[in-house]
Amino acid sequence: MDHQIELAYLVLELPDPDAITSVLADVVGLVPGEPADPAARGTRTWRDDDRAQRVVVQAGPAHDAVAIGVEAVDVAAFDATLERLRGLGADVVDSDAAAVQARRVERLVRVPAPWGIDVELVVGLADAATTFSSPLVPGGFLTDGVGFGHVVFATMAFDESVAFVTDGLGFAQSDWLETELAPGITLEVRFFHCNARHHTIALARAPFELPQALHHVMFEMRSRDDVGAAFDRAWAAELPIPNGLGRHDNDGMFSFYLQTPAGFQIEVGHGARVVDADWDDDRRYDRISAWGHQPLR
Ligand SMILES: [Fe+2]
Repeated sequence: MDHQIELAYLVLELPDPDAITSVLADVVGLVPGEPADPAARGTRTWRDDDRAQRVVVQAGPAHDAVAIGVEAVDVAAFDATLERLRGLGADVVDSDAAAVQARRVERLVRVPAPWGIDVELVVGLADAATTFSSPLVPGGFLTDGVGFGHVVFATMAFDESVAFVTDGLGFAQSDWLETELAPGITLEVRFFHCNARHHTIALARAPFELPQALHHVMFEMRSRDDVGAAFDRAWAAELPIPNGLGRHDNDGMFSFYLQTPAGFQIEVGHGARVVDADWDDDRRYDRISAWGHQPLR
């Protein structure tokens, strides 16, 4: 599928960036990124492919995601996306050289997203000096042309956020989920694609202010057995597992969710269906999963 943008990276801010090191390295199987900018004390970076960094964990009080990088495939796509954001009246800030260097990109502009984080529109995310290889994930992660994974945020500013993602960033809706979790409590999640990945961003309508905007980040493995092995590691590490192995109804992803010590969750999955040029399945789903995904502990 022809695409203009993909998810470049996720920036997390935690009081102690090492609080999630063992989960990312020893359970999910990410590998450390290249040494962080020495000016950014305590920052840890992580890779799930050949790029220099895909998850940046910086020291700070936010205890949440603070930014996502959205990478344009070339300068023309960068300019077109920037134009759309400006057309929406977004408050676009040009970054300084230090930010460009820290994010390992060629160009970067920063735009506040309505759900409380920054979107960093970038082009030219650098490759790492070494080829990606994770001893824990021999099959590697699926990122070619689809970005490093997906991110899901919950927000009370739901309608503005949907407009920002579609009219501003140029995503298209894949489908949506609307289901009654309990009498009077409805869950609404809208899923958006910008390339063949079924969703790169999903937004949940929050009924009240939640402690974190980031609900989860998903890493997709190329091998189903690697997901099983990651599940075994999460189980052995005695991490909370809010959803055991299961299969989502809409994207068909085989996955499980672990809860990190930082509060947000990580979904580890495999085998989601892909969006093609004539996607015409933008419809409502009334269940999260076709099977599984039970809360385990
Ligand atoms: Fe997900």
